[in-house]
Amino acid sequence: MIFKKKIGKLTVFIKDNDSFYEKILDEFLSNRMDIKKLLRSEDETKVWLIDTEKGPMVLKLYVPKTKRFERILKSLIKRDFYQSLIYRTNNAVIHGASMINDIYLLAQKKICNYAYVHIILMEYIDGIQIRDLEPISDELKLEITQVIEQIHSYDMVSGAPHKENTMLTKDGIKLIDLSGKKCTCVSRAKDRMELQKYLGIKNTKQDLGYYIYISIKNLKKTFKNIRIKLGLRKP
Ligand SMILES: Nc1ncnc2c1ncn2[C@@H]1O[C@H](COP(=O)(O)OP(=O)(O)O)[C@@H](O)[C@H]1O
Ligand SMILES: [Mg+2]
Repeated sequence: MIFKKKIGKLTVFIKDNDSFYEKILDEFLSNRMDIKKLLRSEDETKVWLIDTEKGPMVLKLYVPKTKRFERILKSLIKRDFYQSLIYRTNNAVIHGASMINDIYLLAQKKICNYAYVHIILMEYIDGIQIRDLEPISDELKLEITQVIEQIHSYDMVSGAPHKENTMLTKDGIKLIDLSGKKCTCVSRAKDRMELQKYLGIKNTKQDLGYYIYISIKNLKKTFKNIRIKLGLRKP
């Protein structure tokens, strides 16, 4: 179960209200975290592999800097992305999903529902990214397709099933960096179409979600072209 509480100025969501995860958050905030490796360092995102008494874990700091106005507007009508993700992940893991990384803690700085700093503590997935295994064998492609179908059956979507977010571990394929988005026929079709685009895994299911996804994509393309023609956007 996910517990929500206030710790100082942070709104914190903790799996099973486990004080161990809270302790790691405290170590991070007071610069005492035992960092093993910096996994990503970009303007908006920092990801560290850390050492803890309970083994390696991953801590991600995400501070979005672009599209601020759009994000504030969205926060008025939509549930926060990472908040949805921690609840969805917990639900999937409880029901037996072992092909995704668990999320232990989410701490956010918020103004009303608008979160502008996200700290995420999660399970470390020990494996090789698919991008380091190219060319991807047909056997592996089949396994990735099955894993995507499995996460859909746990009411989750990947949102970005590309070569960086797909890992081969000793227990098979696992997915990281999942989306907190709703698992609808359209988001499921998007996952399948992204597998086709990024991993060359042909989509074989042309259901209602597929046709809606294609129509939305075409509509977006038309709007983009109109804006380019009107000089409102660079080609
Ligand atoms: N749970 C995890 N287990 C192992 N490695 C991870 C995990 N989460 C992230 N990473 C590593 O950190 C990188 C960046 O993290 P990610 O959450 O995918 O950030 P971004 O949102 O920028 O894509 C990943 O490509 C992967 O190498
Ligand atoms: Mg990623």
